[in-house]
Amino acid sequence: MNVSLKSEYPVSARRAPTAHRKICFWALVLAGLSVIGLYYHSAPLFNLYHLDVLSTKPVKGGCPFPLPNHLLKQQPLQHGEGPLTKSSKKLHAYLSERTSHSDIDSLSIAIVTPSGTVFEHSYGVLKANETVSERPISSNSIYRIASITKMFTMLETLILRERGVLDLDDPVEKFLPEIKYPSYGWSEYLRGGDADYSGGVRPRITLRQLASHMSGMGRDYPPSDIGDWPQNSPIPSFKRMRTQDDLPFPKRNYEQLVKSVNKYPLVNLPYDYPIYSNSGIDLLGLSNVAANKRASSQPNDEPQSHEDLINRDIFGPLGLNSSFYHVPYGTPLVDDLAVPNKDHDWADFYFDPADVPAGAQYSSLADLVTVMQSFLDPAENDGLVSEHVIREWLHPLFTWKNGFQEVGAPWEITTINDNVRLYMKGGNIPGYHSEFALVPEFQYGIIVLLTGTYTNTAEIVHRAASLFQPAIHKLLEERVTKAYTGHWAGASTEDHKGRTTAEIKLINGGLYLTELVVRGYDVLRIVEDADVSLHKPYPIALWNTGRPGEFRLAFGRKALNDDPTAGCMPYWVSIDNPMFSRGAPIDLIYWDGDQLVYPSGGARLERV
Ligand SMILES: *[C@@H]1O[C@H](CO)[C@@H](O)[C@H](O)[C@H]1NC(C)=O
Ligand SMILES: *[C@@H]1O[C@H](CO)[C@@H](O)[C@H](O)[C@H]1NC(C)=O
Repeated sequence: MNVSLKSEYPVSARRAPTAHRKICFWALVLAGLSVIGLYYHSAPLFNLYHLDVLSTKPVKGGCPFPLPNHLLKQQPLQHGEGPLTKSSKKLHAYLSERTSHSDIDSLSIAIVTPSGTVFEHSYGVLKANETVSERPISSNSIYRIASITKMFTMLETLILRERGVLDLDDPVEKFLPEIKYPSYGWSEYLRGGDADYSGGVRPRITLRQLASHMSGMGRDYPPSDIGDWPQNSPIPSFKRMRTQDDLPFPKRNYEQLVKSVNKYPLVNLPYDYPIYSNSGIDLLGLSNVAANKRASSQPNDEPQSHEDLINRDIFGPLGLNSSFYHVPYGTPLVDDLAVPNKDHDWADFYFDPADVPAGAQYSSLADLVTVMQSFLDPAENDGLVSEHVIREWLHPLFTWKNGFQEVGAPWEITTINDNVRLYMKGGNIPGYHSEFALVPEFQYGIIVLLTGTYTNTAEIVHRAASLFQPAIHKLLEERVTKAYTGHWAGASTEDHKGRTTAEIKLINGGLYLTELVVRGYDVLRIVEDADVSLHKPYPIALWNTGRPGEFRLAFGRKALNDDPTAGCMPYWVSIDNPMFSRGAPIDLIYWDGDQLVYPSGGARLERV
C-alpha cells in the first residue's frame, strides 16, 4: 500500500498526489465527479443506475447485500402486524378456494417465525377415504412427510458430527464396510468386463456426498425388472408392482441394497452433478447408526436402528409427540393420522428399516413448526445444533446452470424474485405431498402438508412466499430504519473540538452511511481521495457482521465498484483492509446501546 490514511488529515487541506499517481488521480477525480454529479448531488435520494427503489427485481451489478436480519430475532414478527394481515387474507382466500377442488383432500400450512406463527390454517378432512368422516384436519393431524425424512436424517448426521462421532468427509465404507461400489462404467458392466473406468482411482463416496445427492449413487436400489421392454409397455405403475408381492412398493432390505450398490455402476462420477438418490440417503442413515455404535464402548446399549437413534437425538429432545416411522397401532396417535381418499393404503404402508431414512417419517404440522423454530433461532428454541452449524448447513453445494436452482444437503434451493433463497425439502409418496421451506435471510419458514393427488406443493410454497415475502421485507426495513437510520451527532465531551456527525439511510433496500465527519474530518472523502483500494463514491454500504448492531463499511475497490460485471467481488475482498487506529479497524462501526460508535476515530454519536 503506497498511501496511508491519516486521521488528522483535514477536509480543507488535501495533499497533492505524488507524481507517479497524477494521471490516475485526475482520471479518477473526473470519473468520481461525474458519478457524484449524476447520482448523488442531483438527487437527495440516491438513484444508482443498477438499483431500483421500489421494485424487488434482481439488481444488475452492484452487490445486493442482506439487511441485518437479527432484528427479526430480537423483535419477531407479530401475527397480524402491519401488511401481514393483508397477506394472510389473500393466502387464506386462495387456499380456501384451491382446497375445495377434488385433487386436495386436506392441507395444513404454517408460516413460522422464531417465536410463533404468523399464518396457520388447516383445510379439509382428516380421513378422506371414509364416506362418513367429517373430522377436520388440525395442526395436530399426522401426515406422512415422505422425503422430508431426509432432512431429519441429515440433522442426525450433523448432531453426530458435533459429538465427534463422524466426519462429513468420512467415506461411507468406514461405517458400512460391506459397501464396495465398483469403479467400472455401464459399458464395461454390460459387457461383463471389469475394466476400471476411473483409471485406477477409485471414486470415493463420502457422507457429505450422500447427503447432497452428489455421490452418483443410483436412485432406488434394488431396481425392478419390468420384463420385456418395450413390448411390456406401458411402464408398470406402482399398482402393477404391487401385484407381484401384494405391496404398494417393491420391498428393499439391507442385503438387497448392499448387493445393488456393489453391483451396479454409479450413475455418474461423484461430485459431477447431483442424482436424486433415496438409496444414498438410506446409506447415510445406516451410517449414522453404525457410526454411533462404533464410537461407543457399549455398542449394544446404543440405538440399533435409525428410528431409535432419531427418537433419542431428535424427537425426544425437541418434545415431538406426533413424529414416528411406523404407525403406533393401539395408541391414540392412529386416530390423528391423515388419510388420503385415493392411495389410502399408503397411510400405513410399512417401510423396511433399511429404507426408513429416505422417506418413512410421519409428523404433524405442530411438530414441524417446533423443528422450524429450532432451525430459525437455535439459541432461543433449544436447538439441537448451534446456530453456527445451521449456518453451515444452509448453503448450496451445487448450482444448476439455470442459476436459480441449487442443491444442498439435502436442500432443494430456489431463488425467488426478491433475490431470496428458499431452502426447501419436498416429500412425495402416493397420497401425501409436503414441503418444508426455510428463508433464513428473513427469519421465517413455510410448511405445507397435504393429502390428495395434487403433487405441486412447491407451487403453494411459492404462492405463500410471493404474498408474505414483500410484507416481511417491508417489516424488516421498518425495524432497520428505526434501529439505525437518521442523523447522528457527537455525544461525548472529548469531541467538542470540531463537528462530529453521521448520516445513515436506507436506500433502495440497503443500509448506507452517507456521511461520517469526525472532529471536522470528512472520513468518507478522505477514504475516497486516498488512492488506495478502499474507494467508493458515497454512500458506503453497511455490511452487518452477524453480530447485532455491528457493521463494516464496504468501501469496495475503486477500479471495480461501478463495473456491473464485478458484482459483489470488490466489496467483500476489501472488507477489513488491515488499517487500524485506536486499536480498531477503520471500516468498523457499531451501536453501543443508543450510541453509534466509530472506534478508530474515537467518536461516539447520538441520534439527533
Ligand atoms: C402434543 O403436544 C401438543 C402441545 O403440547 C398438544 O397440543 C397435543 O395434544 C399433543 N399431542 C399428543 C398426541 O399428545
Ligand atoms: C381408510 O384408510 C385406512 C388406512 O389405510 C384404512 O385402515 C381404512 O380401512 C380405510 N377406510 C375405508 C373405508 O376404506
